[in-house]
Amino acid sequence: MTLDRYAVIGNPISHSRSPAIHAEFARQTGEQLSYEALLAPLDGFRDAVERFRRAGGRGMNVTVPFKLEAFALVERCSPRARAAGAVNTLAFGPDGIFGDNTDGAGLLRDLVHNLDRPLEGQRILLLGAGGAARGGLLPLLAERPASLTLANRSVAKAHALAAAFRSHAPDVALDACGFIDLTGRAFDVVINATAASLANEAPQLPPGLYAANALAYDMMYGRGDTPFLAAARNDGVTQRADGLGMLVEQAAESFLLWRGVRPDTAAVLAALRRQLAGE
Ligand code: ATR
Repeated sequence: MTLDRYAVIGNPISHSRSPAIHAEFARQTGEQLSYEALLAPLDGFRDAVERFRRAGGRGMNVTVPFKLEAFALVERCSPRARAAGAVNTLAFGPDGIFGDNTDGAGLLRDLVHNLDRPLEGQRILLLGAGGAARGGLLPLLAERPASLTLANRSVAKAHALAAAFRSHAPDVALDACGFIDLTGRAFDVVINATAASLANEAPQLPPGLYAANALAYDMMYGRGDTPFLAAARNDGVTQRADGLGMLVEQAAESFLLWRGVRPDTAAVLAALRRQLAGE
């Protein structure tokens, strides 16, 4: 029997945990599929996707730096992919390539379900104004927080992003500012969607941003605390989480789209956490 083929495509890709995650989802649900990691040259994304599709591929996950190109490539896409302007999941069908973006749903599922943090009425601070922030915005707004503040190093980018999303959630107080403008304000949920961790840095935030029982959430993850989470710990924040749960949950959303069955993520996340700690 030939297995349905899936892959994650990116550059670099060797570090990707998606093949292990999807292999475990397949084992758990009894779905017959294979899932591999594909390195595409920086100028060869389209060709690599086409080749995989012609070879019988059924779908792909798309990761850095190709999510915008994937959005441009698809013939149809979900409303959440259109809002994000980025695609992390491709499904190949008889009527062409369908694109979805499961990152925001993965974030939401991790926050609300895994971390038991309902967002309705909460004051949310979202740090960053790049693709990661953009992908999270619509699902966060849909939870009807009391307010959502977008803060970014380049303030103009935060303003532009807020302006683009304001009509999506007229009931939510959506504002934008620079990091220093946050002085004197307090938030219940602070989400780091900047790429600062990649440079081993934390966004330069004023002190006192965290309300009592606030959650500090980093979309990035690593072996120990990310710089953002280390800074939150120093600020006395006891509830902290990295993006490993988001990674597993966005994968589960993709798996659901492709196979029509939602895998159980808890055991996969726990195993991945143990593995990361041992590396
Ligand atoms: P992604 O798609 O991962 O969001 P991106 O589009 O390159 O990546 O955006 C990176 C985000 O991280 C931006 O918000 C960027 O801030 P600027 O718009 O001011 O560049 C933010 N960022 C990157 N390094 C940072 C740092 N050291 N401190 C704070 N913000 C940082």
